[in-house]
Amino acid sequence: MFINKHLIDFMRGCKQYTFLSCFLEFLWTIVGAIISLLSACAIRIVLSGKPFFVFKYVYQPLIIVVVLLFVQFIVYKQKVSSANKGSRIIKTQIRQDLLNKLFELGSAYTTTSRTGEVANTISNKVEWLSNYYTLYLPASSSSIINAVFIITGLYIIDAVTASICLVSCLGMMFCPMLFYNFMKDRGIKEWKAYSDYYSDCLDSIQGITTLKAFNANQRRCIYIDKKGEEFRRAIMSQLRVTMLENGVLEFFLQTGCALSVATATVRAALGVISPDGLIFTLFLTAACFMPMAKLGNAWHMGYRGITASYSISELLTKKATFSLAKANVSINADFKNVEFDGDIEFNDVSFSYDGDFALKDITFTVKNRTMVALVGASGGGKSTIAHLLAGFYPVGSGAIYVGKMNMSKQTVGSIQSMISAVWQDCHIFYGTVYENILLGRPDASRDEVINAAKKANLHDFIETLPMGYDTPLGENGMRFSGGERQRLAIARAILKDAPILIFDEATSSLDRKNELDIQKSFNELSCAKTSLVIAHRLPTIQRANQIIVVGNGKILAAGTHEKLLKSSPEYNSLWGRFLGGQYE
Ligand SMILES: Nc1ncnc2c1ncn2[C@@H]1O[C@H](COP(=O)(O)OP(=O)(O)O)[C@@H](O)[C@H]1O
Ligand SMILES: [Mg+2]
Repeated sequence: MFINKHLIDFMRGCKQYTFLSCFLEFLWTIVGAIISLLSACAIRIVLSGKPFFVFKYVYQPLIIVVVLLFVQFIVYKQKVSSANKGSRIIKTQIRQDLLNKLFELGSAYTTTSRTGEVANTISNKVEWLSNYYTLYLPASSSSIINAVFIITGLYIIDAVTASICLVSCLGMMFCPMLFYNFMKDRGIKEWKAYSDYYSDCLDSIQGITTLKAFNANQRRCIYIDKKGEEFRRAIMSQLRVTMLENGVLEFFLQTGCALSVATATVRAALGVISPDGLIFTLFLTAACFMPMAKLGNAWHMGYRGITASYSISELLTKKATFSLAKANVSINADFKNVEFDGDIEFNDVSFSYDGDFALKDITFTVKNRTMVALVGASGGGKSTIAHLLAGFYPVGSGAIYVGKMNMSKQTVGSIQSMISAVWQDCHIFYGTVYENILLGRPDASRDEVINAAKKANLHDFIETLPMGYDTPLGENGMRFSGGERQRLAIARAILKDAPILIFDEATSSLDRKNELDIQKSFNELSCAKTSLVIAHRLPTIQRANQIIVVGNGKILAAGTHEKLLKSSPEYNSLWGRFLGGQYE
């Protein structure tokens, strides 16, 4: 039987339903075997050749058969219901664990893994895993236990026929084990090919506008076809082994059945088995092999479940670099208006991604309720600094202090609850405008949501939508422009009203009206907050209490606007571009 430690661990929470399903499947199979036995009794009575005897006794086993058929129906219904309950519990529980894990791993993981692969694990692999508990385990355990009982009974009637049944049943039980290693490798390749294909399709759908803009539809279709072909090959390679395995299973089943029947008949002709014994042997052989015939299908479920269990547990046991889930913070605390009174300090912070880019010796302070602006050429490390403050990645060396708290695994959750962040690439979720703003603080009232939208200069635009705040937004809010998206993110942040603000200004070329709207809503948002702003606009830079010029992962200069104009050539060159409107 296919089983491993992960599968035993995953069973927690649905143990009772799995055992109940196995027991009911076994009961169902045993009732089937008893029906076979009673049918043998009825035939024996009919073949007795005494009309009065037949007339008097044949009805008894037949009536019991009818009752048992009804019992079998009830048992079957109960089995399906228990399997469904177990399946629901296990799917909910594992999907919840996977989602929690993804939140815990955070952007450090999601930026390096493919959406299609993660989605495949959460949807399909979990589905196969639940089939393992609700279909494979009951079918395989019940047919094996049933075979043990029946073969024991057959030994009482005739040891030779029983031995033939035993050998073929053992063949059917162990032959999948021989194929397992071939199937496992091919199975892992098939999952991988499927994930790649699925991810590429998803990527293409999301990037359809870009593909059209570059007239790349045809090229992309060819690429997707190629991936589809790789997936087909992976399936075929897997199917070849499955068919071979099914062939061997079928061989044991058919040969075992035929040989048992032939042996019993010959031995009855030789007088070793009585005619009554022959009747029972034939029916018991059928009762033994019929459930075994289901094993072929069940093995497939078992094998898919076990390969899925490896990748699910691999994801669940991934180590988080920073752990919000394990941090000492309750979900509700995220949305409380936490009091914060202190400075933010970056102390000799260094950090690097897996690649070459690194931040080196970043030291600066954002004084309480003041604004620090980060400026510099694209790719210099401004967003990385902001991501470190947001707790997306742990620092390599040095420390970030928020108030008196040194950011660490234990404090990151509490620190995140004090931060409102507005990123350039704000995500809009599938749902209504209202639900998207409410994300900032789920317990806010409708009036508070509308107020936040007003302060973010988004209210008038929302009113023009067909259903106002209840207008459904497609995936990633396609109907929102860059400026509107950022104002929606500002509305969320206004609603959250946290004391620390991280703001990554929109760099997309905004029209004058959008730019003014964003500026107004930003002023509303940043009022009396301790703010770290990645600045792309002149008014923001001029309002900042301190400006830090970042380039190549280092602080190139820091000070007020006037001081930097006098002392920093990099700032002077940036300022020239700000004035010329060329700074992105
Ligand atoms: N998740 C990531 N993994 C690896 N490298 C990254 C990641 N995010 C950004 N980088 C790299 O880090 C460098 C700095 O990026 P970023 O901080 O976004 O710069 P800026 O915001 O100043 O434009 C860039 O070279 C970028 O390619
Ligand atoms: Mg950036």
